[in-house]
Amino acid sequence: MSKKIYLYGNWKMNNTYSETEKFFAEFPAVYEPLKNDSNLEVGIFAPFTSLWPLSQGAKKCGIVFGAQNVYYEPKGAFTGEISIPMLKEYDVTHIILGHSERRHIFGESDELIAKKVKAVLDAGMTPVFCYGETLEERESGSTFTVMERQLKSAIKDLLPEEISKIIYAYEPVWAIGTGKTATPDQAEEVCGWSRKLIGNEKVVILYGGSVKGSNAKELLNMKDIDGALVGGASLKPASFLEIYTAFKN
Ligand code: PGA
Repeated sequence: MSKKIYLYGNWKMNNTYSETEKFFAEFPAVYEPLKNDSNLEVGIFAPFTSLWPLSQGAKKCGIVFGAQNVYYEPKGAFTGEISIPMLKEYDVTHIILGHSERRHIFGESDELIAKKVKAVLDAGMTPVFCYGETLEERESGSTFTVMERQLKSAIKDLLPEEISKIIYAYEPVWAIGTGKTATPDQAEEVCGWSRKLIGNEKVVILYGGSVKGSNAKELLNMKDIDGALVGGASLKPASFLEIYTAFKN
């Protein structure tokens, strides 16, 4: 039996409401040949303002959909933030947390991200927890120290059954949006190491960082990589789904 692949698209700050409608005008035809493949789970994570057309399109196609961030408090004086109950009204089930752009551009700390992970789990939703090292950290040999800090901070107060519900995404910062992919061996090394640190061999671990049709097969064939978190290539249905087709063929 071949393994199940998670193909998750992180649109980042791309695709407006109307562009999301256009995406879903094209998506069903491209997805048609894959939609009954039980070894594939497709998910899309859109900006908040595109969640309505995303939810409508995703429900019709039977794919997972979610948001790219959330605040951990349920309501109150937090100008500019979005809460979990707000997302629940859109039937959101999955939320990306700790993406490197949140960490490095918006200064989110390990502590803040851990609170978000806990709140999302408490709400019965699935956190897609991102972690990974910068180029400087890799070159100075601190890759594993940094990732150990990021991972441990997110899971240290969680029960084993909560830890197993998180979807983990290893995204080396130097490979995101740069066209520079981690080699399959580099990605596999970290994903295998992460499983041991998390203490659960069965958790879902994705790789993210410039994944596209041309490099998908070798990455997704790695034993410890369960799928891909895709930025740039997820913005068009064809380049997105090509990643799975390339893996299968
Ligand atoms: P990329 O982004 O595929 O454009 O490198 C991946 C991500 O940041 O999730």
